[in-house]
Amino acid sequence: MELEKIITERHSTRAFSDKPVPRETVEKLLSLSTRCPSAINIQPWEFTVVMGEERRRLSRILVKAMRERNISCGPGAVRRLAERFMDRQRKLMDSIAPFLEEETAFQDFINEGSCNFYGAPVAIIVTIDTAFSKSRLVDVGIALGYMVLAAHDMGLGTCPIGLINAFEDEIREALNISEEKEVVIGIAVGYADPDAKVNRACSSRAPIHEVVRFY
Ligand SMILES: Cc1cc2nc3c(=O)[nH]c(=O)nc-3n(C[C@H](O)[C@H](O)[C@H](O)COP(=O)(O)O)c2cc1C
Repeated sequence: MELEKIITERHSTRAFSDKPVPRETVEKLLSLSTRCPSAINIQPWEFTVVMGEERRRLSRILVKAMRERNISCGPGAVRRLAERFMDRQRKLMDSIAPFLEEETAFQDFINEGSCNFYGAPVAIIVTIDTAFSKSRLVDVGIALGYMVLAAHDMGLGTCPIGLINAFEDEIREALNISEEKEVVIGIAVGYADPDAKVNRACSSRAPIHEVVRFY
């Protein structure tokens, strides 16, 4: 598929079918994702692939922790965000809400859905050695970008799940991840449920002139 088409067509998937993803397919996806550039080719990313019943077990732990601690998806701001950022968040809500069952509150759908990896048969937990500085999170982000595009080209849906950061201790314990690794993000991977209305939601982007300066 042409790259421009892959980039413009791809959207996050928030309802997956239970059709399993073969291990070889996940391996191919990770091989393509890690073809991305990294500073001095250090390739700082590490992946824990959680499949099938193990994925469901992890989700039970995450849902319990999310409910107990009343954690919710948010922008991860350290101080008050400018209105234009809040506006983009509202637009995302407006793009998804019309596709939800009326009784499903948006925030519950996102919080529970994220902890359940939206029913995906595969969850990939991305970690980085704590010996690295925060600068190396850029490299991990590039790998994630490659991953969502490669997955789309392979007929797979994805949804990055940043919410799981709040549950680092639980994830570390459930998946035997050492104290020397930091959990960066999770990503749900699987085949999109073709009948789920929510997968028709289409997020918008700020026009280029809002985010670019030519000098
Ligand atoms: C770093 C990062 C963290 C994200 N965390 C979540 C999450 O926890 N739950 C969720 O439903 N979507 C999450 N998303 C998906 C974004 O909401 C989505 O990419 C954005 O709204 C743009 O929509 P699109 O991917 O359909 O183009 C995350 C995306 C990124 C890049």
